[in-house]
Amino acid sequence: MRIIKAKDYEDLSLKAANIIAAQITLKPQSVLGLATGSTPVGAYAHLVELCKKGELDFSEITSVNLDEYVGLKGDHPQSYRYFMNEHLFNHVNIDVSKTNVPCGTAADVDAECSRYDNLITSLGGIDLQLLGLGLDGHIGFNEPASYFAKGTHRVELDKSTLEANSRFFTSIDEVPKSAVTMGIGSIMQAKKVLLIVSGANKKSILEKTLYGEITPEVPASILQLHPDLTVIEAVD
Ligand code: F6R
Repeated sequence: MRIIKAKDYEDLSLKAANIIAAQITLKPQSVLGLATGSTPVGAYAHLVELCKKGELDFSEITSVNLDEYVGLKGDHPQSYRYFMNEHLFNHVNIDVSKTNVPCGTAADVDAECSRYDNLITSLGGIDLQLLGLGLDGHIGFNEPASYFAKGTHRVELDKSTLEANSRFFTSIDEVPKSAVTMGIGSIMQAKKVLLIVSGANKKSILEKTLYGEITPEVPASILQLHPDLTVIEAVD
């Protein structure tokens, strides 16, 4: 595990963008695993800038996002598909047909989960998976549980996650109660993982993640076993 201490959020964002840009440059046909949430916003902005300057080419990239709320269509402003369009896809030369986000409105959620797993397998797995860290230690929407879920699955969101995400909705009652998320297995099979963590409120869960017991109660703690994990943190 490599731990990079960033000076602040801006520094973290630039460092994360540089690592993702290096991945794209070294392997233009990369499969990128992408995350939403507040943390990657700055990194995405830097990637957009590099692409606009003609220094980065997304034309051969395929992306697979970690998760999506159940019940939200892609054009809902709080859906993760909408987030990705707004923060990245609409502003870079990625082929939108090669961008993938689980479908939150699939009539058969289990079938959608299998489709997503098969898709990741058919792409040959993920080259670089970008992750944020939830206050309860979740990655994707893999919430604390009694076991590590392997594949894509539906999950009921924890109270702390609903509260944290209510900042994007008018009220907590509007936050969808469940989501479809890539499993811990798919995340762990990514060739490289880049975990970005920002904010003093994440300091304690980051410590548990990196140095605590490896337990499904802290889902991100399994990353300690990943052979190519880079952590960029700005939590002091
Ligand atoms: C989002 C995701 C979540 C977030 C996590 C941290 O796609 O997978 O695990 O990374 O909730 O969110 P922020 O960055 O908003 O603190």
